Amino acid sequence: MKNIAILLGDGVSTEILSSAVSVLDKVNEVYKLNLNYTYAPIGGRAYEETGTPLPDKTVDICLKSDAVLLGSVGDWKYDKLPPELRPEKALLGIRKKLNLFANLRPVKVFEELAFASPLKPEILKNTDIMIIRELTGDVYFGEPKGITTKKTYDNRTIRVGYNNMIYDEDEIGRIALSAFECAQKRNKKVCCVDKANVLDVSRLFREVTKEVSKDFKDVELSFMYVDNCAMQLVLNPRQFDVILTGNIFGDILSDEASAICGSLGMLPSASLSDGKTPYMYEPIHGSAPDIAGKNTVNPIATILSAAMMLKYSFGEFGAHDSIYNAVKSVLKEGYRTTDICRENDRLVSTDKITDLIVNKIN
Ligand code: IPM
Ligand code: MG
Repeated sequence: MKNIAILLGDGVSTEILSSAVSVLDKVNEVYKLNLNYTYAPIGGRAYEETGTPLPDKTVDICLKSDAVLLGSVGDWKYDKLPPELRPEKALLGIRKKLNLFANLRPVKVFEELAFASPLKPEILKNTDIMIIRELTGDVYFGEPKGITTKKTYDNRTIRVGYNNMIYDEDEIGRIALSAFECAQKRNKKVCCVDKANVLDVSRLFREVTKEVSKDFKDVELSFMYVDNCAMQLVLNPRQFDVILTGNIFGDILSDEASAICGSLGMLPSASLSDGKTPYMYEPIHGSAPDIAGKNTVNPIATILSAAMMLKYSFGEFGAHDSIYNAVKSVLKEGYRTTDICRENDRLVSTDKITDLIVNKIN
């Protein structure tokens, strides 16, 4: 039995997860995977139900599972809550509790959707990047942090906010290792993205990455400042194979990278640990409360996240490929949700595109 925790969050979360589960049900049947699901709330939903965005019971269910599939969390209606009760806190919390330090965000364009990209087709063609974002450190978790007050030279009391961008060499070493191992299975290039011209923490990131690279003579290592990388992603995305970067730079660059693929609704992600805790899978997009419940959201990012789960957590490569190919062939036939739809395409609902994908799997 393969036990999967399904974390229901906010906004479009239930719709995209129910699509992913329909697809999983089908591969379960075809490939006899013996999948079993346990549902648990997270984020705003958990806050409504239990008073906390990350209940112990949810964490417990995750820890007892073999893999975790998460929808998305967040809603403007929780903006006024104190930081520790906000949905985002639960997401950071579960990443930390499961020690999910390596976030893999593949950036690959389906050629059928090249038109949806703001980039010219000749620039975009053959783009295939794996962003490896460190996920449990950096300014996201660094101490000390807070909002306090200070006295100015003219004796006024003013507020001051601060976070600490911090990485130790063990944290850098293990994420660098993930990047090199990943590159070995791809095009054997790692580009370490940082701000080493300004930040000490980036200088250490570079040093440790260079040390790790000594064991990977077959992988070419390069370095790039994050501002330049933001520019290079739109000028020449094809130059990248694996991008290795810290938490905050990875957050920003992966949104940019998803936009060049045409829609945020297409990109999946996998968050991996050292193997002692289950891996987690989630779309990189947010909870989009404005379109929740309308049966219009694009479920493909979550469906592809479920496919990544089959590959990375269960080694079910055939089932993974069959989901990927089903998505590709539905797109080829011109079916689209609104976010990726042009005039002559076949506009369909979330449920409909899900059915079409399910029916392609056999
Ligand atoms: C992401 C999201 C999260 C992050 C937010 C919702 C906390 O933007 O997964 O990229 O910053 O990591
Ligand atoms: Mg983000």
